[in-house]
Amino acid sequence: SEYPYPPYDPTDKSGFSYDTVVKRWPIILTGIIDTIYRIDHDISVSLPSLTAGSTEETQAQTKFAEGKAIIEKISQLKYDMARDRPLECIPADGEVYADEYNEVLNQLAEQKHNTWFTAPWLYAECYLYRLLRSFVTQTVHWKSFDPFYAQKEETFRGSSKAIYQLATTIHELDAEKQSIRDDRGKLAILFKEMIQMCLWGNATDLSLLTHMSHDDIAHLQTVGKEAQAARLEFILKDDQDKVISYLESLKDKDARVDFVLDNAGFELFTDFVFADFLVTYTPYVKKVVFHPKLIPWFVSDVTPSDFKSTIPSLFSESFFNPSNASGGPQQHEYLQKMVTRWQSYLDSGVFTLAVPVDTELGQSHPKGDFWTGPWPYWDLQEKAPELWEDLRGSSLVVFKGDLNYRKLTGDIKWPVTTPFETAVGSFGGVFPILSLRTNKADVVVDVPQEVADKLDAAGEKWRVNGKYALVSFLPRRA
Ligand code: F6P
Ligand code: MG
Repeated sequence: SEYPYPPYDPTDKSGFSYDTVVKRWPIILTGIIDTIYRIDHDISVSLPSLTAGSTEETQAQTKFAEGKAIIEKISQLKYDMARDRPLECIPADGEVYADEYNEVLNQLAEQKHNTWFTAPWLYAECYLYRLLRSFVTQTVHWKSFDPFYAQKEETFRGSSKAIYQLATTIHELDAEKQSIRDDRGKLAILFKEMIQMCLWGNATDLSLLTHMSHDDIAHLQTVGKEAQAARLEFILKDDQDKVISYLESLKDKDARVDFVLDNAGFELFTDFVFADFLVTYTPYVKKVVFHPKLIPWFVSDVTPSDFKSTIPSLFSESFFNPSNASGGPQQHEYLQKMVTRWQSYLDSGVFTLAVPVDTELGQSHPKGDFWTGPWPYWDLQEKAPELWEDLRGSSLVVFKGDLNYRKLTGDIKWPVTTPFETAVGSFGGVFPILSLRTNKADVVVDVPQEVADKLDAAGEKWRVNGKYALVSFLPRRA
């Protein structure tokens, strides 16, 4: 390839991509099969109560048959995967990038890297979610089916404790709003708390749930000062001070901040809290743009519909168990107050969701499909020039999470000491970048060799176990 290092792929059995093909993907696929199976089962139970020959009955029968056909395709996929068969072309299903995915696949075939155990991990994983999408878009009744919906909802519900706690923290800030804006020292301390809260919010993506218990997750969601201090040593690259002084330099410049979102539920909640903090409590930022994934992606990533249901869920009296407001019923009020402010920001366009055309919010943005393409981000300008141009107008683009980091660095085997600036290639310097990533895949850059060696020697799976993190900032090129 034209890249300076080879990609991570499952030919290395000690890497995380090997584990992924052997264990994680089959579990994820089996989960989807179960979900569809259950829906189909409910349909079959309801059939006898429908009038024979009615439109309703015909539709139910078609949906049932389509569900069954999707299950068969996914089972075949699992079978092919386990036997290291070649990846097949994405069918022309009328959605974006089928040709583009297939073009890369053809190149991989020429290099004999087009099978499940030889294809570059980054490509194969993106391809997998795009292929799954094609299975549902080719139906009549499953077109808007999100196989991960229930899982996302359930985990969101389960994170109420941390959510109430954060709402209380923000409520406490209210009393000090003016003094915070005027006191740089105080602001800088809060800034770091917010960055870290948003960073560790990424520790809980659902594609990793295949080896994490709900207790593990609750533990990762522990918020608050002590928990943060304890975890500071796990941040192996820490550009927090750099990003704060950069933001300070923006004073009175009406900055716009973009979030390239990662996961729905708790992580999205922390993104909202951070965005709210930037707009409400700092004097630097006037506008925040959120970029979702337009199709179900890497299990838990935010889709437009996840984004839109987040605020109603947080408002709902029944979504969270109120007994988890361990600080008393006023915690529920704090949450409502904060979320009311978020809604007003959405209504007035201070917060916007970047989707091609958003009928509900009445806003329109350059195409957002690029985030579900197979490419490293150094291809942004070539593949999505409109989006590239749009992001050039941003004062800071925050990239959340592990997959974004893999795409920023191309998921290739950079030596660990490679500067972040080198690893992002031509993507660097065009607009300021902040990557907040907990380590869940092998690629890591800009960490001192001694640090890496020491962790390796201690037998720590620090690149992949989600316990370690990187805060990487790169300013606009002067
Ligand atoms: O490490 C497992 C994994 O599924 C990776 O394949 C992927 O990069 C990541 O988790 C997703 O994590 P995140 O939601 O932080 O992008
Ligand atoms: Mg994710």
